[in-house]
Amino acid sequence: MSKKVCIGSDHAGYALKQTLIPFLSALGWTVEDVGPACTDSCDYPVFAQKLCTMVLEESIPGILICGTGIGMSMAANRHEGIRAALCTNEFHARATRQHNNANVLCLGERVTGPGVAMELARIFLETPFEGGRHQRRIDLFDGK
Ligand code: RB5
Repeated sequence: MSKKVCIGSDHAGYALKQTLIPFLSALGWTVEDVGPACTDSCDYPVFAQKLCTMVLEESIPGILICGTGIGMSMAANRHEGIRAALCTNEFHARATRQHNNANVLCLGERVTGPGVAMELARIFLETPFEGGRHQRRIDLFDGK
């Protein structure tokens, strides 16, 4: 089974993005990098937009990284169908998959060290959604 994930950042998340790409590849994920390609200053909503489009079109998970993770989560959650979760610990990463069916993990490079970030990404990508009452609650986001 092919496992594909997309990843994007701004300049403040670039180093962590470059750390996560080989880590996820080694776990068997095909990683699509939406950029940026260097640490030149850039605008995080641009990369949030690129990544969210890919997540929605291909029904794959995504990872967004900025300095705090906050701007990326705000920008991503403006897109209908995106459920982006800023995670700083393993409980966040697991619970947001189980209960919120989050499809985008947001990380803050200036907040979360690379070792923890790798573990959060692994947990996020490996944890299934529990469905049931949690699906009913997610449906309420869109007034369904
Ligand atoms: C960039 O300096 C920083 O503002 C950005 O990476 C992010 O943390 C915004 O939320």
